[in-house]
Amino acid sequence: MNTPIYDFLENYKCSGGVRAHMPGHKGSGTGGFASAYPYDITEIKGADSLFEAEGIIAESEKNAASLFGTAATFYSAGGSTLCIQAMLAAVCGRDRAFICARNSHRSVMNSCVLLNLEPCWVYPEYKDGSAVSGVFTPEAVEAAISRYAEKNPACVFITSPDYLGRLAPIKEIAEICHKHGLPLLVDNAHGAYLAFLEESLHPIALGADMCCDSAHKTLPVLTGGAYLHAADGRYIPEIKRCMALFGSTSPSYLIMASMDLCNGYLAANYRARLAEAVERVNRFKEHFNFLCEGDTEPLKVSFYAYPCGLRGYQLAEQLRSSGIEPEYADETHTVLMFSASSTEQDFARVTEAAEKLMCPRILLRAPEIKAHEPKRAKLPRDAFFAEKETVDTESALGKIAAESVTVCPPCVPIICPGEIFDEMTIKILKMYSIFKVNVLK
Ligand SMILES: Cc1ncc(COP(=O)(O)O)c(C=O)c1O
Repeated sequence: MNTPIYDFLENYKCSGGVRAHMPGHKGSGTGGFASAYPYDITEIKGADSLFEAEGIIAESEKNAASLFGTAATFYSAGGSTLCIQAMLAAVCGRDRAFICARNSHRSVMNSCVLLNLEPCWVYPEYKDGSAVSGVFTPEAVEAAISRYAEKNPACVFITSPDYLGRLAPIKEIAEICHKHGLPLLVDNAHGAYLAFLEESLHPIALGADMCCDSAHKTLPVLTGGAYLHAADGRYIPEIKRCMALFGSTSPSYLIMASMDLCNGYLAANYRARLAEAVERVNRFKEHFNFLCEGDTEPLKVSFYAYPCGLRGYQLAEQLRSSGIEPEYADETHTVLMFSASSTEQDFARVTEAAEKLMCPRILLRAPEIKAHEPKRAKLPRDAFFAEKETVDTESALGKIAAESVTVCPPCVPIICPGEIFDEMTIKILKMYSIFKVNVLK
């Protein structure tokens, strides 16, 4: 597969011309990044322009679309965050309601503030004491569609995989959405690789109308690189306009070139390498089934810490002491992410460290966190821009949240702007060691 963005940068680097244009480093620099500076350019002649792409960027995006099997794929150098803003703006416009799974990332709530959207929540069945992950059923989505029918929601938005790696039943949810004439948008930030499994688990293959993938989270792409995929032509004219509304006018060519090179990587022997990594993760999960959540996506290991007599943060510290840095840790869980670039030695080291976790301790009991459904007093935008003050979490009962409060930034909000602190919310926040919050005055 050709790599038009990377090839253009390589030729420009070799041309040796005077860089009488941005950026200020003029193609050279010192230190560990010295070899990156020559490739870091701006929109010079021939380099195309991300949000009005007609040249090398459009060609590279077409390559990505053919690899992912989409009607169109657009690059983002602003992560899935920019894709989520653009998807919601393209489908909802402003001042609309939409059905939204409660395990959504903070960027969804930020989009609600920016666009004055009203999220009508679908709640999961919470499991193992985690307030950031749960099991979403198609029935719960259908019930929400009926419950909020009078609000005329613009779409259904779900997150899958979630922070702990749980996958939603996208195929069944898509069928329900389409039966009710609603498009399904999926935050697939953690799942770009799902398109390359033996049997694709990618949202577009399962019936979603649009989705975003953070390429940088699971593929060899620089941080910030993401895809916005569309299943058909309906929203294509709006997407780039909406991406341009929120995105920087100077998207990084280093990021875009890494996405371009990634196309070549995916088209070569990626499927075989991925299958090998999945097999290794499977073996690991089977061996440590006492510790690992069983129903998680193929490249994620979610340790449920309580059965080892540890809190998630403590388990993460134990792994760090063996030289392993986890992706995420909270009160109950510690999450490791692997990819096709993880080596056999990586797996051997993680296995050795996990063996040490198995020593006998007193088991901890999972906290009770069902019924976490704080009531809403104001729309997210109105609450976010209102006058606020900081109070102890303990004394926030009955007050209105001024902003999203997350377990570890950015993550999934436990309470969103405009919602009222109730007893369960305060209990959960304290469980996650959050002792100060911003409330409306
Ligand atoms: C579920 C989920 N959605 C969206 C995002 C935002 O992605 P990005 O960092 O690519 O902007 C994240 C980031 O952590 C995430 O975990």
